[in-house]
Amino acid sequence: MARPALSHRRWPQPQQVSWRRSLTRFFLCFLAGLLLGFSPFLHVDEAQTAVSSSAADESPPPPPPFAKLATIPLWKRHGDAVHGGKLLIIVTPTYNRAFQALYLSKLGQTLRLVPPPLLWLVVEAGPASAETAALLRTTGVMFRHLVTGKNLTNNKDRGVHQRNAALEHIEIHHLDGIVYFADDDNVYTVELFQRMREIRRFGTWSVGMLSQGKSKAILEGPVCNGSQVIGWHTNEKSKRLRRFHVDMSGFAFNSTILWDPDRWHRPFPEKIRQLDSVKEGFQETTFIEQLVEDESQMEGIPDGCSSIMNWHLHLEAEDLFYPRGWRTPKNLEVTIPVT
Ligand SMILES: *[C@@H]1O[C@H](CO)[C@@H](O)[C@H](O)[C@H]1NC(C)=O
Ligand SMILES: *[C@@H]1O[C@H](CO)[C@@H](O)[C@H](O)[C@H]1NC(C)=O
Ligand SMILES: *[C@@H]1O[C@H](CO)[C@@H](O)[C@H](O)[C@H]1NC(C)=O
Repeated sequence: MARPALSHRRWPQPQQVSWRRSLTRFFLCFLAGLLLGFSPFLHVDEAQTAVSSSAADESPPPPPPFAKLATIPLWKRHGDAVHGGKLLIIVTPTYNRAFQALYLSKLGQTLRLVPPPLLWLVVEAGPASAETAALLRTTGVMFRHLVTGKNLTNNKDRGVHQRNAALEHIEIHHLDGIVYFADDDNVYTVELFQRMREIRRFGTWSVGMLSQGKSKAILEGPVCNGSQVIGWHTNEKSKRLRRFHVDMSGFAFNSTILWDPDRWHRPFPEKIRQLDSVKEGFQETTFIEQLVEDESQMEGIPDGCSSIMNWHLHLEAEDLFYPRGWRTPKNLEVTIPVT
Protein backbone atom coordinates (compact mmCIF):
# COMPACT_ATOMS: atom_id res chain seq x y z
CA MET A 1 0.00 0.00 0.00
CA ALA A 2 1.41 3.38 -1.00
CA ARG A 3 1.92 5.81 1.83
CA PRO A 4 0.94 9.46 1.47
CA ALA A 5 3.83 11.72 0.48
CA LEU A 6 3.67 13.64 3.75
CA SER A 7 4.20 10.60 5.93
CA HIS A 8 7.31 9.79 3.89
CA ARG A 9 9.03 12.70 5.38
CA ARG A 10 7.67 12.19 8.89
CA TRP A 11 8.33 8.48 9.27
CA PRO A 12 11.86 7.50 8.33
CA GLN A 13 12.58 4.48 6.14
CA PRO A 14 13.60 1.18 7.80
CA GLN A 15 17.28 1.50 6.73
CA GLN A 16 17.43 5.02 8.12
CA VAL A 17 15.99 3.82 11.43
CA SER A 18 18.53 1.04 11.85
CA TRP A 19 21.41 3.37 10.94
CA ARG A 20 20.28 5.98 13.46
CA ARG A 21 19.60 3.35 16.08
CA SER A 22 23.08 1.89 15.81
CA LEU A 23 24.62 5.35 15.98
CA THR A 24 22.59 6.14 19.09
CA ARG A 25 23.54 2.78 20.61
CA PHE A 26 27.18 3.39 19.86
CA PHE A 27 26.98 6.77 21.52
CA LEU A 28 25.16 5.47 24.59
CA CYS A 29 27.65 2.62 25.02
CA PHE A 30 30.54 5.02 24.57
CA LEU A 31 29.07 7.39 27.17
CA ALA A 32 28.37 4.56 29.62
CA GLY A 33 31.91 3.23 29.22
CA LEU A 34 33.33 6.69 29.74
CA LEU A 35 31.30 7.24 32.91
CA LEU A 36 32.18 3.79 34.27
CA GLY A 37 35.84 4.34 33.60
CA PHE A 38 35.81 7.67 35.36
CA SER A 39 33.54 6.77 38.26
CA PRO A 40 36.32 6.11 40.83
CA PHE A 41 37.78 9.54 40.07
CA LEU A 42 34.38 11.18 40.26
CA HIS A 43 33.94 9.72 43.74
CA VAL A 44 37.26 11.03 44.94
CA ASP A 45 36.41 14.45 43.57
CA GLU A 46 33.12 14.51 45.42
CA ALA A 47 34.72 13.49 48.71
CA GLN A 48 37.46 16.08 48.38
CA THR A 49 34.96 18.83 47.70
CA ALA A 50 33.06 17.86 50.82
CA VAL A 51 36.19 18.04 52.97
CA SER A 52 37.42 21.32 51.58
CA SER A 53 33.99 22.97 51.66
CA SER A 54 33.53 22.14 55.32
CA ALA A 55 37.04 23.33 56.07
CA ALA A 56 36.45 26.55 54.13
CA ASP A 57 33.71 27.64 56.56
CA GLU A 58 36.30 28.98 58.93
CA SER A 59 39.75 30.46 58.93
CA PRO A 60 42.65 28.19 59.92
CA PRO A 61 42.67 27.83 63.71
CA PRO A 62 45.49 29.30 65.78
CA PRO A 63 46.83 26.53 68.01
CA PRO A 64 44.88 26.83 71.26
CA PRO A 65 46.75 26.30 74.53
CA PHE A 66 45.37 22.92 75.46
CA ALA A 67 43.19 21.76 72.60
CA LYS A 68 44.60 20.66 69.31
CA LEU A 69 42.62 20.09 66.12
CA ALA A 70 43.41 16.55 65.10
CA THR A 71 40.94 15.96 62.31
CA ILE A 72 38.74 18.11 60.13
CA PRO A 73 35.44 16.38 59.32
CA LEU A 74 36.31 13.61 56.92
CA TRP A 75 32.86 12.34 56.28
CA LYS A 76 29.81 14.34 55.42
CA ARG A 77 26.36 12.91 55.23
CA HIS A 78 24.22 13.83 52.24
CA GLY A 79 22.13 16.81 53.17
CA ASP A 80 24.64 18.28 55.62
CA ALA A 81 25.14 21.16 53.25
CA VAL A 82 21.49 22.10 53.69
CA HIS A 83 21.41 24.86 56.26
CA GLY A 84 18.33 26.23 57.88
CA GLY A 85 17.83 23.98 60.91
CA LYS A 86 19.60 24.86 64.16
CA LEU A 87 23.08 23.42 64.51
CA LEU A 88 23.49 20.99 67.41
CA ILE A 89 27.03 20.80 68.83
CA ILE A 90 27.37 17.53 70.68
CA VAL A 91 30.42 17.32 72.97
CA THR A 92 31.56 13.82 73.91
CA PRO A 93 34.61 13.14 76.07
CA THR A 94 35.96 9.64 75.57
CA TYR A 95 38.98 7.53 76.46
CA ASN A 96 40.38 4.18 75.61
CA ARG A 97 38.81 1.33 77.59
CA ALA A 98 36.96 -1.92 77.03
CA PHE A 99 33.53 -0.28 76.68
CA GLN A 100 34.67 2.56 74.41
CA ALA A 101 33.80 0.93 71.08
CA LEU A 102 30.41 -0.16 72.40
CA TYR A 103 29.55 3.29 73.78
CA LEU A 104 30.76 5.29 70.78
CA SER A 105 29.01 3.03 68.26
CA LYS A 106 25.77 3.27 70.17
CA LEU A 107 25.93 7.06 70.48
CA GLY A 108 27.02 7.44 66.85
CA GLN A 109 24.03 5.42 65.71
CA THR A 110 21.66 7.58 67.76
CA LEU A 111 23.20 10.79 66.38
CA ARG A 112 22.88 9.49 62.85
CA LEU A 113 19.11 9.40 63.30
CA VAL A 114 19.00 13.10 64.23
CA PRO A 115 18.24 15.38 61.26
CA PRO A 116 21.27 17.55 60.34
CA PRO A 117 22.88 19.98 60.90
CA LEU A 118 24.72 18.31 63.76
CA LEU A 119 28.41 18.48 64.65
CA TRP A 120 29.87 15.86 66.95
CA LEU A 121 32.94 17.08 68.86
CA VAL A 122 34.62 13.97 70.20
CA VAL A 123 37.40 14.80 72.64
CA GLU A 124 39.90 12.11 73.42
CA ALA A 125 42.10 12.08 76.50
CA GLY A 126 45.74 11.94 75.55
CA PRO A 127 46.76 11.25 71.97
CA ALA A 128 44.10 10.61 69.30
CA SER A 129 43.70 6.87 68.93
CA ALA A 130 43.46 5.25 65.51
CA GLU A 131 40.63 3.08 66.86
CA THR A 132 38.46 6.08 67.72
CA ALA A 133 39.22 7.77 64.39
CA ALA A 134 38.28 4.63 62.44
CA LEU A 135 35.06 4.23 64.41
CA LEU A 136 34.04 7.87 63.89
CA ARG A 137 34.51 7.59 60.14
CA THR A 138 32.01 4.75 59.95
CA THR A 139 29.20 6.52 61.85
CA GLY A 140 28.13 8.83 59.02
CA VAL A 141 27.86 11.77 61.43
CA MET A 142 29.72 15.04 60.80
CA PHE A 143 32.43 15.05 63.47
CA ARG A 144 35.64 16.63 64.66
CA HIS A 145 38.11 14.52 66.57
CA LEU A 146 39.83 16.68 69.19
CA VAL A 147 42.48 15.75 71.71
CA THR A 148 43.69 17.24 74.96
CA GLY A 149 47.36 18.03 75.06
CA LYS A 150 47.80 16.61 78.56
CA ASN A 151 48.10 12.94 79.48
CA LEU A 152 44.90 12.55 81.48
CA THR A 153 45.14 8.84 82.23
CA ASN A 154 44.09 8.30 85.85
CA ASN A 155 43.11 11.97 86.21
CA LYS A 156 39.84 12.16 88.12
CA ASP A 157 38.92 15.42 86.37
CA ARG A 158 39.59 14.04 82.92
CA GLY A 159 36.06 14.89 81.69
CA VAL A 160 36.42 18.49 82.88
CA HIS A 161 39.58 19.03 80.82
CA GLN A 162 38.07 17.31 77.78
CA ARG A 163 34.86 19.39 77.86
CA ASN A 164 36.95 22.53 78.29
CA ALA A 165 38.95 21.62 75.17
CA ALA A 166 35.65 21.49 73.24
CA LEU A 167 34.48 24.82 74.74
CA GLU A 168 37.76 26.37 73.63
CA HIS A 169 37.19 25.02 70.10
CA ILE A 170 33.63 26.42 69.94
CA GLU A 171 34.87 29.78 71.21
CA ILE A 172 37.80 30.07 68.77
CA HIS A 173 35.68 29.15 65.76
CA HIS A 174 32.59 31.11 66.87
CA LEU A 175 30.39 28.08 66.27
CA ASP A 176 26.72 29.11 66.51
CA GLY A 177 24.54 26.30 67.79
CA ILE A 178 23.14 24.52 70.82
CA VAL A 179 25.89 22.93 72.92
CA TYR A 180 25.21 19.65 74.69
CA PHE A 181 27.55 17.53 76.82
CA ALA A 182 26.76 13.95 75.85
CA ASP A 183 29.04 11.54 77.69
CA ASP A 184 29.60 8.37 75.70
CA ASP A 185 28.21 6.00 78.35
CA ASN A 186 24.70 7.48 78.67
CA VAL A 187 21.58 6.49 76.74
CA TYR A 188 19.73 9.10 74.65
CA THR A 189 16.45 9.16 72.76
CA VAL A 190 16.26 10.83 69.36
CA GLU A 191 13.42 13.00 70.74
CA LEU A 192 15.86 14.67 73.12
CA PHE A 193 17.94 16.04 70.24
CA GLN A 194 14.84 17.27 68.44
CA ARG A 195 13.63 19.08 71.60
CA MET A 196 17.01 20.74 72.00
CA ARG A 197 16.38 22.78 68.87
CA GLU A 198 13.61 24.61 70.78
CA ILE A 199 16.15 26.13 73.18
CA ARG A 200 16.86 29.85 72.93
CA ARG A 201 19.25 30.43 75.82
CA PHE A 202 19.48 27.57 78.28
CA GLY A 203 17.29 24.47 78.34
CA THR A 204 17.07 21.85 81.07
CA TRP A 205 15.20 18.59 81.65
CA SER A 206 15.08 15.61 84.00
CA VAL A 207 17.52 12.73 83.61
CA GLY A 208 16.91 9.18 84.81
CA MET A 209 19.79 8.07 87.04
CA LEU A 210 20.84 4.47 86.64
CA SER A 211 24.15 4.46 88.47
CA GLN A 212 25.22 1.77 90.87
CA GLY A 213 26.77 2.41 94.22
CA LYS A 214 26.47 5.40 96.49
CA SER A 215 24.05 7.47 94.42
CA LYS A 216 20.47 7.09 95.56
CA ALA A 217 18.85 9.54 93.18
CA ILE A 218 16.54 8.04 90.59
CA LEU A 219 15.85 11.32 88.89
CA GLU A 220 17.64 14.63 88.71
CA GLY A 221 16.44 17.83 87.05
CA PRO A 222 13.81 20.57 87.04
CA VAL A 223 10.23 20.66 88.31
CA CYS A 224 8.28 22.85 85.89
CA ASN A 225 5.09 24.78 85.41
CA GLY A 226 4.85 24.78 81.63
CA SER A 227 8.37 25.70 80.57
CA GLN A 228 9.03 27.69 83.74
CA VAL A 229 11.44 26.04 86.20
CA ILE A 230 9.93 26.22 89.71
CA GLY A 231 12.02 23.66 91.61
CA TRP A 232 14.42 20.70 91.44
CA HIS A 233 14.19 16.95 91.90
CA THR A 234 16.85 15.45 94.09
CA ASN A 235 17.19 13.16 97.05
CA GLU A 236 20.91 13.42 97.52
CA LYS A 237 21.43 14.83 101.02
CA SER A 238 25.15 15.42 100.44
CA LYS A 239 24.41 17.66 97.50
CA ARG A 240 21.70 19.85 99.04
CA LEU A 241 24.09 22.80 98.96
CA ARG A 242 24.14 22.89 95.19
CA ARG A 243 22.46 25.86 93.56
CA PHE A 244 21.12 23.89 90.57
CA HIS A 245 20.35 20.15 90.60
CA VAL A 246 21.10 19.12 87.05
CA ASP A 247 23.09 16.22 85.65
CA MET A 248 25.83 16.95 83.10
CA SER A 249 23.54 15.37 80.47
CA GLY A 250 20.47 17.36 81.63
CA PHE A 251 21.03 20.74 80.01
CA ALA A 252 22.02 22.42 76.74
CA PHE A 253 22.71 26.05 75.88
CA ASN A 254 23.18 28.58 73.10
CA SER A 255 26.88 28.60 72.17
CA THR A 256 27.00 32.36 71.60
CA ILE A 257 26.97 32.80 75.40
CA LEU A 258 30.56 31.48 75.28
CA TRP A 259 31.98 33.95 72.77
CA ASP A 260 29.56 36.89 72.61
CA PRO A 261 29.13 38.14 76.22
CA ASP A 262 27.78 41.55 75.11
CA ARG A 263 24.81 39.99 73.38
CA TRP A 264 23.82 38.27 76.63
CA HIS A 265 24.71 41.19 78.92
CA ARG A 266 27.08 38.99 80.85
CA PRO A 267 28.74 41.02 83.55
CA PHE A 268 31.86 38.84 83.84
CA PRO A 269 34.34 38.90 80.99
CA GLU A 270 36.00 35.62 82.14
CA LYS A 271 35.89 32.56 79.95
CA ILE A 272 33.14 30.08 80.75
CA ARG A 273 34.78 26.83 81.79
CA GLN A 274 34.23 23.74 83.89
CA LEU A 275 36.20 23.85 87.12
CA ASP A 276 38.50 21.08 88.29
CA SER A 277 38.81 22.66 91.72
CA VAL A 278 35.30 21.85 92.96
CA LYS A 279 33.99 18.86 94.88
CA GLU A 280 32.53 15.93 92.95
CA GLY A 281 28.88 16.60 92.18
CA PHE A 282 29.36 20.37 92.05
CA GLN A 283 30.80 20.56 88.53
CA GLU A 284 27.42 21.00 86.86
CA THR A 285 26.11 23.69 89.17
CA THR A 286 29.30 25.76 89.15
CA PHE A 287 29.32 25.64 85.36
CA ILE A 288 25.63 26.56 84.99
CA GLU A 289 26.09 29.49 87.40
CA GLN A 290 28.38 31.01 84.74
CA LEU A 291 25.70 30.66 82.04
CA VAL A 292 22.55 31.94 83.78
CA GLU A 293 21.72 34.07 86.79
CA ASP A 294 18.70 32.10 87.99
CA GLU A 295 15.81 29.84 86.99
CA SER A 296 13.99 32.68 85.20
CA GLN A 297 16.60 32.44 82.41
CA MET A 298 15.99 28.71 81.95
CA GLU A 299 13.56 26.86 79.71
CA GLY A 300 12.22 23.54 81.03
CA ILE A 301 11.70 21.01 78.24
CA PRO A 302 9.39 19.46 77.24
CA ASP A 303 6.45 21.46 78.65
CA GLY A 304 5.89 20.38 82.25
CA CYS A 305 9.30 18.61 82.32
CA SER A 306 7.48 15.35 82.92
CA SER A 307 9.21 13.04 80.49
CA ILE A 308 12.60 11.38 80.73
CA MET A 309 14.46 11.58 77.43
CA ASN A 310 17.86 10.27 78.52
CA TRP A 311 19.43 8.12 81.20
CA HIS A 312 22.66 8.54 83.07
CA LEU A 313 24.29 5.15 83.09
CA HIS A 314 27.46 4.31 84.90
CA LEU A 315 28.86 0.91 84.17
CA GLU A 316 32.57 0.35 83.90
CA ALA A 317 34.64 -2.79 83.84
CA GLU A 318 38.21 -2.23 84.94
CA ASP A 319 40.97 -4.44 83.58
CA LEU A 320 38.70 -6.17 81.12
CA PHE A 321 40.69 -7.85 78.38
CA TYR A 322 39.66 -7.06 74.82
CA PRO A 323 41.33 -7.50 71.43
CA ARG A 324 43.09 -4.39 70.14
CA GLY A 325 40.87 -2.51 67.68
CA TRP A 326 38.30 -5.29 68.04
CA ARG A 327 40.11 -7.36 65.44
CA THR A 328 41.19 -10.95 65.92
CA PRO A 329 44.27 -11.43 63.76
CA LYS A 330 44.63 -15.07 64.77
CA ASN A 331 42.28 -17.62 66.21
CA LEU A 332 41.79 -17.75 69.94
CA GLU A 333 43.64 -20.58 71.60
CA VAL A 334 40.62 -22.75 72.21
CA THR A 335 38.53 -23.38 69.15
CA ILE A 336 36.00 -26.11 68.71
CA PRO A 337 36.52 -27.92 65.45
CA VAL A 338 33.55 -28.58 63.23
CA THR A 339 33.01 -32.34 63.08
C1 LIG B 1 50.00 8.58 80.73
O1 LIG B 1 50.22 8.40 82.11
C2 LIG B 1 50.07 7.06 82.57
C3 LIG B 1 50.25 7.02 84.07
O2 LIG B 1 49.90 8.18 84.68
C4 LIG B 1 51.07 6.15 81.86
O3 LIG B 1 50.87 4.81 82.26
C5 LIG B 1 50.88 6.27 80.35
O4 LIG B 1 51.86 5.52 79.69
C6 LIG B 1 50.96 7.72 79.90
N1 LIG B 1 50.62 7.79 78.49
C7 LIG B 1 51.31 8.52 77.64
C8 LIG B 1 50.87 8.47 76.21
O5 LIG B 1 52.27 9.21 77.97
C1 LIG C 1 21.65 32.06 70.06
O1 LIG C 1 21.17 33.29 70.52
C2 LIG C 1 21.37 34.37 69.62
C3 LIG C 1 20.89 35.63 70.32
O2 LIG C 1 19.56 35.52 70.75
C4 LIG C 1 20.63 34.10 68.32
O3 LIG C 1 20.88 35.12 67.40
C5 LIG C 1 21.11 32.77 67.75
O4 LIG C 1 20.38 32.45 66.59
C6 LIG C 1 20.94 31.67 68.77
N1 LIG C 1 21.50 30.45 68.24
C7 LIG C 1 20.81 29.30 68.25
C8 LIG C 1 21.54 28.14 67.66
O5 LIG C 1 19.69 29.21 68.71
C1 LIG D 1 1.66 28.02 86.76
O1 LIG D 1 1.58 29.06 85.81
C2 LIG D 1 0.29 29.64 85.74
C3 LIG D 1 0.30 30.62 84.57
O2 LIG D 1 1.47 31.39 84.53
C4 LIG D 1 -0.05 30.29 87.07
O3 LIG D 1 -1.33 30.84 87.01
C5 LIG D 1 0.03 29.25 88.17
O4 LIG D 1 -0.17 29.85 89.44
C6 LIG D 1 1.38 28.55 88.16
N1 LIG D 1 1.39 27.46 89.11
C7 LIG D 1 2.36 27.29 89.99
C8 LIG D 1 2.22 26.10 90.88
O5 LIG D 1 3.31 28.04 90.07
